[in-house]
Amino acid sequence: MNRGAELYAGKAKSVYLTDDPDRLILFFRNDTSAFDGEKTDQLDRKGMVNNKFNAFIMERLEQAGIPTHHERVLSAQESLVKKLDMIPVECVIRNITAGSICRRLGVAEGMDLTPPTFEFFLKNDELHDPMINEYHIRSFGWASDEEVRRMTELTFQVNDVLKQLFLDVGLLLVDYKLEFGRYHGEIVLGDEFTPDGCRLWDAETRKKMDKDRFRQGLGGVVEAYEEVAHRLGVELD
Ligand SMILES: Nc1ncnc2c1ncn2[C@@H]1O[C@H](COP(=O)(O)OP(=O)(O)OP(=O)(O)O)[C@@H](O)[C@H]1O
Ligand SMILES: [Mg+2]
Repeated sequence: MNRGAELYAGKAKSVYLTDDPDRLILFFRNDTSAFDGEKTDQLDRKGMVNNKFNAFIMERLEQAGIPTHHERVLSAQESLVKKLDMIPVECVIRNITAGSICRRLGVAEGMDLTPPTFEFFLKNDELHDPMINEYHIRSFGWASDEEVRRMTELTFQVNDVLKQLFLDVGLLLVDYKLEFGRYHGEIVLGDEFTPDGCRLWDAETRKKMDKDRFRQGLGGVVEAYEEVAHRLGVELD
């Protein structure tokens, strides 16, 4: 599959057209960013690790019956995906409190949430991805009620699959963000699932193994991502 024109360059990935109007190439760059692009850096190996990690997770989700855009890995930093009409909404599940919910609700980090909680955010960096609800999604026409229902259902299904997958290798899935899009009338999981968009803590020590290492200047960012990949059995270069 040949890389065509660049369709979009995000903060961590670049998206290219292909010969097939229904397929895109995602190029996972070494760029990393936090706080809506305010803090950025280049991290050696990050693009490769995230590409391989994402492919592994997307394949597990497909096996569990969750429709994803992932087709196949093309190279160390590239994957072929279905071209989706992206819905500009992020779906977040939190199993344990961390990050923005602690500031917003004045709660301590590390509280178990039973049942897990679910939140929507608008994808808009300038507005710092504000939290929204399904009434906003309906009133502004970002997605239909049926699409909202399906995104919610799939996000919870992902939790059932991945919470256990990570727990089996001694990791707590604290929270994660998913993006969905439309593909020939169907809601399909798009974008990525990597330690850039979720929180993972060691189950014993609660050591942070995700992008909070970058946000909080803890160091060892890619080393932590590689350890998570290694524990899952993801083959890296
Ligand atoms: N299958 C897909 N089809 C179309 N667009 C996709 C697909 N998967 C992901 N995207 C979009 O490609 C971009 C990926 O780039 P990246 O994640 O680096 O962007 P970003 O900096 O997070 O910017 P944005 O805030 O626009 O997501 C995102 O806008 C994402 O929504
Ligand atoms: Mg993104």
